[in-house]
Amino acid sequence: MVSRHVGGSTNPQTRLADVDAKHVAADLDHVIVTADEIAAKVTEMAEQIDADYAGRDVLLVGVLNGAVMVMSDLSRAMRIHLTMDWMAVSSYGAGTKSSGVVRILKDLTTDVLDKHVLIVEDIVDTGLTLSYLADNLRGRGAATVEIAAMFRKPAALTTDVDVKYIGFDIPNDFVVGYGLDFNGHYRNLRDVAVLGKHMYQ
Ligand code: IMP
Ligand code: MG
Repeated sequence: MVSRHVGGSTNPQTRLADVDAKHVAADLDHVIVTADEIAAKVTEMAEQIDADYAGRDVLLVGVLNGAVMVMSDLSRAMRIHLTMDWMAVSSYGAGTKSSGVVRILKDLTTDVLDKHVLIVEDIVDTGLTLSYLADNLRGRGAATVEIAAMFRKPAALTTDVDVKYIGFDIPNDFVVGYGLDFNGHYRNLRDVAVLGKHMYQ
């Protein structure tokens, strides 16, 4: 019997991503950014960040849970000294809409006073979450606070949140993969895909 569960394939030609996709393909509409495109972009972003922060220790602050993949890849692509810490936040508000009122569920263990902080996020939608976080960390006396996000949606462009490092501008669809979830699922997809409308309508 052929094992089909993730990681169970004995065929070396079968990519893990292909196995994943077969399990969830029916839930997805189409892929918008592939794992290879993400990998190339991560390298590009890391080079830029390395250059900008040369001679300074940077503290990467990942926003749980979505930023886990970006943090993991970006930090390993960087070549300068860095430290990492994590925050978990929840945005009050109904359903999928951000309200701008953010509650801290897990705070940093690091004191950010006089540190060069780079917030690492998966996606900027309205920008309300990041705008709150950046202000919060500035208020704690960080020397500098900048933002790196892998994806940005059009709505983010109308807010005043300044995202210094951005991977991809994407259409205003609900997407999953590379850390982005729907009800906790699909974070482990290597590609980023638009979720089928039949999944939530
Ligand atoms: P913002 O405050 O509206 O910018 O909210 C950003 C947060 O909403 C992200 O960190 C994600 O957790 C979530 N989010 C926004 N768009 C998507 C999406 O298309 N797929 C999955 N999560 C999303
Ligand atoms: Mg997030």
